[in-house]
Amino acid sequence: MKAIVATDEAAGTAGMRLVERPEPAAAINDVVVRVHAAGYVPDELDWPSTWVDRAGRDRTPSVLGHELAGVVASLGYGTTGLSVGQRVCGIADWHRDGTLAQYVAVEARNLAALPGDLDFTIGASLPISGLTAWQGLFDHGHLRAGQRILVHGAVGAVGTMATQLAREFGGHVVGTGRAADRSKALEYGAQEFVDLDSDALEDVGAVDLVLDGIGGEVQKRSAPLVRPGGRLVSIVGPVEARPPEGVAIDFVVESDRAQLDEIVRRVRDGRLRTNIGTVGDLDDAVAVLNPTERRKGKTIIRVRP
Ligand SMILES: NC(=O)c1ccc[n+]([C@@H]2O[C@H](COP(=O)([O-])OP(=O)(O)OC[C@H]3O[C@@H](n4cnc5c(N)ncnc54)[C@H](OP(=O)(O)O)[C@@H]3O)[C@@H](O)[C@H]2O)c1
Repeated sequence: MKAIVATDEAAGTAGMRLVERPEPAAAINDVVVRVHAAGYVPDELDWPSTWVDRAGRDRTPSVLGHELAGVVASLGYGTTGLSVGQRVCGIADWHRDGTLAQYVAVEARNLAALPGDLDFTIGASLPISGLTAWQGLFDHGHLRAGQRILVHGAVGAVGTMATQLAREFGGHVVGTGRAADRSKALEYGAQEFVDLDSDALEDVGAVDLVLDGIGGEVQKRSAPLVRPGGRLVSIVGPVEARPPEGVAIDFVVESDRAQLDEIVRRVRDGRLRTNIGTVGDLDDAVAVLNPTERRKGKTIIRVRP
């Protein structure tokens, strides 16, 4: 099968290649999915799991991409809950070969059903971005109606999901980003916008929750804005600044079928809009995943038979 692999950590994106790889086999509780579309998070090459397995052993060449939408092609020993031919979407294990390939082996529990009227391209854009937003807001952020939430990177793949979900659940959203992002952030539902290059973040005032998709100085300047008892949730690695009287937490998104069902349902009934920027094909994926211009939204790679 065709797959996009990374072989050399030092080479970074220059080391990405389109190659022929053996098709994966389904292990216990796995399914093999025939991938129709795959999502890619831009900093995958910085994740340790791209390079080593859970025991720390070199696992290169590793197939990149961890979001997928496709059709179940075969079931592993003991696998229940899914059937061959079923449309699915979900997250592939960080430490195993990924979804920028014609086939991927995934634990069945990491997948949710993708209704027939949702395109594979849309399905592949939801699992990581949608679940990160959901878990950041609700599991870790404890968002409640009436609270003010600061979403850093509001026009990004996660930020647009978080903005819409926070609004649906009664939050007041202050989005941040670059000057050019203002209208898009408001269009996705932010009630206020802070241009991080020219506006004073400190003027935002007190917030109950910071969902941080940027980090660094932006995070450090945000911590003092968190109200007593409020939360700062980082999706960009270990917390660098703690709210003086609040909670700080960082997390990596986890597969959750029930939550993914909720996200898929919302996209289907129009409550949630995905944010796809570029769509490319597997044959051109190396170039598409390394754009010379600024990315706008999620990059999705279509995978043809
Ligand atoms: N913890 C997890 O489980 C998890 C899951 C998903 C994603 N992530 C991470 O979360 C981050 C966001 O993910 P994403 O998929 O939403 O990425 P994305 O689509 O690239 O969105 C990030 C947004 O933040 C903006 N931004 C970044 N730095 C900025 C700065 N200094 N000033 C103003 N705007 C800035 C970006 O603008 P530009 O494009 O102009 O830079 C972009 O609009 C990434 O680092 C990603 O790796 C973590």
